[in-house]
Amino acid sequence: MNLKSYLAARAAEVDQALDAFLPKAKQRPLTIHAAMRYSVFSGGKRLRPVLCLAAAEACGGDPAEALAPACAVELMHTYSLVHDDLPAMDDDDLRRGRPTCHKVYGEGMAVLCGDALLTESFAVLAHTVPTQRYSTRDYLAEFASTGGSTKLIGGQVMDLEGEGKKLTRRDLMQIHEAKTAALLTTALRLGAMTANATPAKLKALTEFGHALGLAFQVIDDILDVTQTTEVLGKTAGKDAAVEKATYPAILGLEAARKEAATLTTRAMSSLKPLGKRAARLEEIAAHLLQREY
Ligand code: IPE
Ligand code: IPE
Ligand code: MG
Ligand code: MG
Ligand code: MG
Repeated sequence: MNLKSYLAARAAEVDQALDAFLPKAKQRPLTIHAAMRYSVFSGGKRLRPVLCLAAAEACGGDPAEALAPACAVELMHTYSLVHDDLPAMDDDDLRRGRPTCHKVYGEGMAVLCGDALLTESFAVLAHTVPTQRYSTRDYLAEFASTGGSTKLIGGQVMDLEGEGKKLTRRDLMQIHEAKTAALLTTALRLGAMTANATPAKLKALTEFGHALGLAFQVIDDILDVTQTTEVLGKTAGKDAAVEKATYPAILGLEAARKEAATLTTRAMSSLKPLGKRAARLEEIAAHLLQREY
């Protein structure tokens, strides 16, 4: 299967599973469930859940076993976007090509929508089947830690506090590690854990996720500068407008592009211990470097 068909097929599986996991639209109170579904089914790339499934395959597992953690990760990601877009944070009107959750449902409802998606993500994670090496407790510890105040939330804190400040490259990498690379890495790790991956394979995927996640945020920052709002599906040029610390702002566009390429190469070389089975992950990494949105 070529990459495009693979990504589309895996994303469709994820969407179907998300639809089954989420409370129905007719479940009361109607507004919160409409807001949750509006935010989840809005044309996201589904990168993290697809990485989760691909990691399970790369470790010789059945991707169907990785669907629950894949959906859990996408729900946590979507909650982080709903809150990231709030006026108190990045104040964005557009997300995934549509008005942001708070624009449609109001700020109070968007706060609650994020809260509900995060809570639901743990309920969905609980469906993951333990393996010989990995227990439910291991899944939970991995997932909770990545969403917590030292990783995703910590990164968002440093990102907000970094606005208007001159940060070093090291500071910036720390922000990216926490706000972006951690969840991406967890997506891969959870997928691998459902395949009962050996510690060596898990370590390889952790290194892959770290470098790929860093590259992913550098590219997100580059696209914010170079791409149109229409193609991005979110308002372009926002980072510079609020003086966000980004690689293009600190290093310039060319150096930022180089950094993304170097990180992608590093990510690919981390896959060696997985052998031929990692070909798909390598292909995804190459694809993400070339992405336009
Ligand atoms: C956006 O993530 C937030 C970042 C961490 C840069 P994505 O670019 O994966 O967003 P969706 O899920 O496709 O909308
Ligand atoms: C978002 O980073 C990281 C999250 C954890 C949500 P950005 O603020 O750059 O993401 P976009 O550009 O709004 O998608
Ligand atoms: Mg942000
Ligand atoms: Mg933002
Ligand atoms: Mg951005």
